[in-house]
Amino acid sequence: MEIRTPVIEESSLFVRSLGEGTDIVEKQMFTFIDRGERSITLRPEATASVVRAYLENNLVNEMGFVKLFYMGPMFRAERPQAGRMRQFHQIGVEAIGSQSPHLDAEVIALMAGLLDSLGVIGYNIKINSLGCPKDKIALADGLRKTLSGGQDRLCDDCKVRYEKNILRILDCKNESCRNSVRMIFKGTPECLCPDCKSHFDSVRRSLDELKINYTVDPYLVRGLDYYTKTTFEVTHKKLGAQDAIGAGGRYDNLVEELGGPARGACGFALGMERTVMALDETPVIPEGICLYFATMGEEEYRVAFNIANELRTRGGISCELDYEGKSLKAQMRSADRLGAKYTAIIGEDELKAHTLTLRNMATKEQRALPEHEFVAEIERIFVK
Ligand code: HAM
Repeated sequence: MEIRTPVIEESSLFVRSLGEGTDIVEKQMFTFIDRGERSITLRPEATASVVRAYLENNLVNEMGFVKLFYMGPMFRAERPQAGRMRQFHQIGVEAIGSQSPHLDAEVIALMAGLLDSLGVIGYNIKINSLGCPKDKIALADGLRKTLSGGQDRLCDDCKVRYEKNILRILDCKNESCRNSVRMIFKGTPECLCPDCKSHFDSVRRSLDELKINYTVDPYLVRGLDYYTKTTFEVTHKKLGAQDAIGAGGRYDNLVEELGGPARGACGFALGMERTVMALDETPVIPEGICLYFATMGEEEYRVAFNIANELRTRGGISCELDYEGKSLKAQMRSADRLGAKYTAIIGEDELKAHTLTLRNMATKEQRALPEHEFVAEIERIFVK
């Protein structure tokens, strides 16, 4: 089911959901004070808004388990560069109401299927598990102890992360941070409680059964605090520094944190611009219009205008006419440019005979059709 949420939300929604110490909340939100002195934010992502809407619209009681999808613009105040925009678009899914590891695998498989159907080749899926909130706290405490005294080996960002969001040190892109952490820490799956370990094993088993290619990256954390257990990211080497085309994970505590009952949930979002960048060929719009009306004279135009309107309102048939007073030859060129499958020509002769000349633009065949049979014939051709 599609869900459309507003592009602005109260800032507190994102602060509570994504986490105060995250890069998005600290540095990347477009936040304003509105006329009512309320702090509002252009949504940097949609998961928080979807959960808010799920609760506010009582889907939690009406539907329980739901599968939702969305598409739309997101906003992050980042320094623009290739693959990093201040306004970009995501297509995402959120499945709310289940803890089942099969769901994680299904969500990852859906993301892979979507990329396959779009023709993206050579992407890599990395998965990891951060465990339940208790595991995350234990992980953070353990890491703090292990790294204590060695903070000077970390980059400036990680020195701040050490204080505020220590797990993010694990997926820092800085080479020296990576090396110093990897020498002393084997990754998060080693530190999970038995339940979370078995959940992660089940996710992997399901992915194997679905024949999804993935690698386990034991250091993948991701920059949003709401994640619990499974996290994943899909990257493509064509993209350079900003190589994530999509990402997601499980967020079993968010529904409860936003005031609802305890409900497991899992989802992903693909960045549309980055997905297009990962394609080998720029996508072409596959379909041209069905029918172009080429006319000469005012009366002829009126006939075409009325038939085009009838075809459009009956549905399924895209029609176009000339709005610029072009010559017949120029109108035929427009029909070609718009990829019209057929052109209907109405000149003086057709007007007198109450016919239209229908031209198949691929075969160049032409035939005359009585005006009163025209709509039915076009529907026969296009609406099978
Ligand atoms: P995210 O990793 O922050 O996750 O964003 C998902 C994707 O959005 C990224 O992998 C990237 O392709 C794209 N993206 C992010 N920032 C930019 C930008 N500045 N310019 C262009 N593309 C960008 C989320 O947003 C989570 N809500 C995903 C999720 C859904 N987790 C659970 N459910």
